[in-house]
Amino acid sequence: MSQTAYRTHHATEVTEQLVGQKVTLAGWVDRRRDHGGVAFIDLRDNTGLVQVVIYDEEMARPLRSEFVIQVVGEVRLRPDGNENEHLATGKIEVVAESIEVLAKSDALPFQVSTALENESENKLPGEDVRLKYRYLDLRRPSMQRNLKLRAQMSKAARHALEEMGFEEIETPTMIKSTPEGARDFVVPARLVPGSWYALPQSPQLLKQLLMVSGVERYYQLARCYRDEDFRADRQPEFTQLDMEMAFVDQEDVMAMAEKVIAAIWKSAGYDIKLPIQRITWQDAMDRFGSDKPDLRFGMELKNVSEAVKGCEFAVFKGALENGGSVRGINAQGQGHMPRKKIDALVEYAKGFGAKGLAYVAISEDGTFKSSFAKFMKDEEMNALIKVMDGKPGDLLLFAADRDKVVFDVLGNLRLELARQLDLLKKDDFKFLWVTEFPLLEYSEEEDRYVAMHHPFTMPMDEDLQYIDTDPGRVRAKAYDIVLNGVEMGGGSVRIHQADIQSKMFEVLGFTPERAKEQFGFLLEAFKYGVPPHAGLAYGLDRVVMLMVGADSIRDVIAFPKVKDASCLMTEAPGQVDEKQLEELHIAVAAEEEQYHI
Ligand code: AMO
Ligand code: AMP
Repeated sequence: MSQTAYRTHHATEVTEQLVGQKVTLAGWVDRRRDHGGVAFIDLRDNTGLVQVVIYDEEMARPLRSEFVIQVVGEVRLRPDGNENEHLATGKIEVVAESIEVLAKSDALPFQVSTALENESENKLPGEDVRLKYRYLDLRRPSMQRNLKLRAQMSKAARHALEEMGFEEIETPTMIKSTPEGARDFVVPARLVPGSWYALPQSPQLLKQLLMVSGVERYYQLARCYRDEDFRADRQPEFTQLDMEMAFVDQEDVMAMAEKVIAAIWKSAGYDIKLPIQRITWQDAMDRFGSDKPDLRFGMELKNVSEAVKGCEFAVFKGALENGGSVRGINAQGQGHMPRKKIDALVEYAKGFGAKGLAYVAISEDGTFKSSFAKFMKDEEMNALIKVMDGKPGDLLLFAADRDKVVFDVLGNLRLELARQLDLLKKDDFKFLWVTEFPLLEYSEEEDRYVAMHHPFTMPMDEDLQYIDTDPGRVRAKAYDIVLNGVEMGGGSVRIHQADIQSKMFEVLGFTPERAKEQFGFLLEAFKYGVPPHAGLAYGLDRVVMLMVGADSIRDVIAFPKVKDASCLMTEAPGQVDEKQLEELHIAVAAEEEQYHI
């Protein structure tokens, strides 16, 4: 495997068994040290390091860091006391007989050496410099590891899916818009002036059409494009591990999707216990204030509306009168938190729309300090502390508002406290299915219901009766898979009955004409015998990020984009020739920053 025109072995294949033999190696000069007439070179290749010893000063003189070299030499045991137990090849070294420089290197903008990387990551420059020279950044062993692990995980997923009878099918990336709730990236069509392709936000409609074609189990490592706000776990261009199945229900999809995840984790040496635990969306909100709960710690939300019902504290009273709720979390053992830190938590909560945060800090002797006790009767306070299971030393934090705000505030506060208390261990993998999502979500901005997953998601049978009278109450056959507070994947059972689909479009405010214009091809296809079908897509980048414990998906993508969706290395997006624009019938209106066709 290793043998090519340039080498007989890879660095880490040079073991004690080869002592006395001649080898040819090729790679980069990771580091060079000189010891009075002897030079030591750490030779680095894709597998790791091996030490090369050079006695000939002439041979050693030209070699600099990151030069690409080919070394011919004999393997020998390192002299006693010179072994390096941290290195796979730490017992041996190669005594150079000849060295050829295959390529020189200028001084690097930053160090990529294995040795330095092990010392501390903080020698690295800012991410903008790393991304400008991404090809060098990727030379670093930790990035090499991420790329390797990603490839290994894709392979494990492919293997698991194929074992279950899935076929890999590619779908086009120049398509008609597939809405997943983000803005489209569009591509101008030269041959049809004034027309545009959209890049897929997902292969959703195409994979559903494959089910009409009689494909029973489809999968694809699909490139998806979404023009949406930047976050650490988002990229404008990302990869889904996308699947769709015919003649299945929700249970079938979840069982198969779990097997895929178990196979992926297995490939990295972890055993996941199946089935993965489940929670309904409503319970997730009530207990964690989030539809993607992090289960690595407790600190669950409690609804205390009942306990504070009759109280005179205007904040609580007002929230309840307006149909909202009062809920709290108990940060156990944090009753000693200084006022300044509590104030910082209040500010943090305000960032999520809270008007304030009411607290009770219980000291070890059972007395307490509180921002609102003066508005409460003693027995009301005691009842509240009891409902919260408040013990001496605990800190109780309350939010009062509309449910949506209370969940958002406490859900995020819970995470912030966990970060501050260092409760989030990266290799503690807590998987969770969230089920029974609401079918629809009211958009204040658009003043109408929008689909929570997408317009093709099937309502739950028992809730279909409310679709006209109380659409917000209808739950969907939709499910997300969550790991440590990150949505890794999601899917749904699809609507395959024309009447339910029409009803859905009606509720979403689509006229039949608009539905036809946007999704006519799907509706037409569904007239010709569509099997019941369902599916799911994992965000592969996120899956890899979680597995390797990276803080951002950028660390597991070879050439990622930054905040304004640009690539710092290639400087895309860029200008094109006037001629190209002309051919595309595009004129750029610089002043108004608008595009005229
Ligand atoms: P959804 O929109 O939930 O579902 O996407 C599925 C998964 O893709 C990942 N993901 C992203 N990863 C990185 N950057 C992004 N901008 C980004 N957006 C989404 C997430 C998410 O869980 N067609 C449906 C799936 C289906 O119903 O079968 C879909 O796209 O991990
Ligand atoms: P005030 O009466 O405005 O001084 O508020 C008393 C306490 O209630 C302060 O600690 C505020 O931070 C807190 N508070 C104000 N609004 C809310 C709210 N919506 N939910 C919870 N606590 C609040």
